[in-house]
Amino acid sequence: MTPDLNAFWMPFTANRQFKANPRILASAQGMYYQDQNAREILDGTAGLWCVNAGHGRKTIATAVQQQLETLDYAPTFQMGHPGPFELAQRLTHITPADLNAIFFTNSGSEAVDSALKIAIAYHRAKGDASRTRLIGRERGYHGTGFGGISVGGIASNRKAFGPLLSGVDHLPHTHNLEHNAYSKGQPEWGAHLADDLERIVTLHDPSTIAAVIVEPVAGSTGVLIPPKGYLEKLRSICDRYGILLIFDEVITGFGRLGTAFAADYFNVVPDLMCVAKGITNGCVPMGAVFAKESIYNTFMQGPETAIELFHGYTYSGHPIACAAALATLEIYQNEQLFEKAAAIAPYWQDAIQSLKGISSIIDIRTIGLIAGIELASIPGSPGARAYQALVTCFEQDLLIRTTGDIIALSPPLIIEKPHIDRLVDRLATVLATL
Ligand SMILES: Cc1ncc(COP(=O)(O)O)c(C=O)c1O
Repeated sequence: MTPDLNAFWMPFTANRQFKANPRILASAQGMYYQDQNAREILDGTAGLWCVNAGHGRKTIATAVQQQLETLDYAPTFQMGHPGPFELAQRLTHITPADLNAIFFTNSGSEAVDSALKIAIAYHRAKGDASRTRLIGRERGYHGTGFGGISVGGIASNRKAFGPLLSGVDHLPHTHNLEHNAYSKGQPEWGAHLADDLERIVTLHDPSTIAAVIVEPVAGSTGVLIPPKGYLEKLRSICDRYGILLIFDEVITGFGRLGTAFAADYFNVVPDLMCVAKGITNGCVPMGAVFAKESIYNTFMQGPETAIELFHGYTYSGHPIACAAALATLEIYQNEQLFEKAAAIAPYWQDAIQSLKGISSIIDIRTIGLIAGIELASIPGSPGARAYQALVTCFEQDLLIRTTGDIIALSPPLIIEKPHIDRLVDRLATVLATL
């Protein structure tokens, strides 16, 4: 039975359009959702880039239930409980380099706002209080907090919300169909776009800049893959001027590229990293900031009785989220899911790239277990073609995600070749009709 749909104000949704013709997911197992009539719908998006280990994982459910029965809630302000200590320690086995100080949040948005605050407070703790400026990137998506939309670069997410944070600048985005259309993996063209950071640094003076934040692979804007050498350049410019580099790995974290993090895949280590989503396989809200030990240590200088960072959430390190995350990490390790993702990624990418030639498609971008398929916009109706694709795919048992006229795909890492064949086949049929 479909409940009354009125009262729930849906996020990032055309409420009236949806409620007139709802798409309700009622249950899920493995690679599939089921609707209320038990129709199976192939999950091409791991929910919302988060169910990396596939749906309905029993060991996570058991861990959550046991935790609920043992300790339902405990604060982490001036108190502790085992979960976040154990989880943070466990995460340090997979964090890149020395990003071993872990601050827990409840979402990616909170992780981003926490990282931005930590960056500014870090410089202040070092005696560099003039470093407050934050640099994001056009088309960047960093969640929906005021910090995140300020450094983010998607106009529709910003324009309704006033002047946002002051002291924010943006790098240019790296999207360019003329040079990079149909690139598989990292495009050849575009590393020079990172040089714009030099211009921004010169404009404001390095002594005013706290941090640069980017998604290593931009997801929500429609899958923009960093050009070869681009992230390395950002890293070296940040190093030159004492600016912190923050990677927002909310979608790339936990195996999406076939490595634990995009930092591993691209071999570029940030100073701070934001994660969420896959940390609990999406089943309990949780996010985190991974900070370099040296950043943490900078805060540990004053009197031992003083709170070092006046920041946190009632649910930072929530027992249930920690239990879910620990069980999730166990699955990733026991089933070697990151390695599996790496192994199947070439098949995935070839299969998606085979859609080239369908007349509505103007670009296909693939990396790891991600794909972006850009459609030609219908003149005067941007987004309409991709929305139609979403609706038709759903009717034909396939869940995709769209942003503007771009289809973004990010299946669970447990995907196998027959699922990929089925997904691509459905997509080809639907796209050919648009
Ligand atoms: C790169 C990135 N950062 C931040 C977020 C925000 O995460 P949340 O929706 O959990 O707040 C997202 C969500 O998709 C994301 O893709």
